[in-house]
Amino acid sequence: MSHQADFTEKIIITIDGWSSCGKSTLAKQLSKILNYVYIDSGAMYRAITLYFLRNHVDWTKKRAVDEALDNIRLEFKFNYKSQQSEMHLNDENVEYVIRDLVVAEKVSEVATIKDVRTFVVAQQREMGLSKGIVMDGRDIGTVVFPDAALKIFMTADSAVRVERRFKEMYEKNPNITLDEVKSNLQMRDYIDSHREISPLRQADDAIVLDNTHLSIKQQLDIALKWAKERISQQSQQPTINGA
Ligand code: DC
Repeated sequence: MSHQADFTEKIIITIDGWSSCGKSTLAKQLSKILNYVYIDSGAMYRAITLYFLRNHVDWTKKRAVDEALDNIRLEFKFNYKSQQSEMHLNDENVEYVIRDLVVAEKVSEVATIKDVRTFVVAQQREMGLSKGIVMDGRDIGTVVFPDAALKIFMTADSAVRVERRFKEMYEKNPNITLDEVKSNLQMRDYIDSHREISPLRQADDAIVLDNTHLSIKQQLDIALKWAKERISQQSQQPTINGA
């Protein structure tokens, strides 16, 4: 399949799903081919968690959370060397440190906090104003962009997800064990799908992409076909003045 694309009509593509089922891999590839902006929404929750941990913020106290949020500035900046947009917390590039297990162990808890979600979602909606974005996360198709033209819900067998995440983390930290990765994923999946505010769930109009038995190339081909269909449907919709 050719991946050449030149679409003038821009849509919003949301990719939600369980931890470590390949959302960001797909989102990055799709955004590159379509010439869209990729937003890793989880990175925003991770950066806030990093700030809370570093500054010993007691996130069980609303006042402490609100004061901390007042001092947090999140920004994605494109890095030409790595060819990806990277998370900056108060002007510091934290793209790599936010992937540590120390952050991964607390991020789901921090992401349950109402004021944290309000802070993050407002910024995400702003990023979507000009469309042409692919955003991955847990509540993007249900809460952040409920009117998105294409919503993908990704899933994969949990053993496969543990294996994939283990390989990824082992490269950076050879002391990590499969059990540590497994219990972290299970804990995050549980908290993410059971929290009171914006829990992870499949939007009614999302298309499920189960990639347990798919290669990266196969999942891309499927998602790209869906994206092209939605973009062309969008471009055929009548405008207000009938043009
Ligand atoms: O996608 P990720 O693994 O980097 O996300 C880290 C955590 O952030 C995840 O366990 C739950 C939270 N998250 C969220 O609550 N809502 C999102 N849209 C994205 C992530």
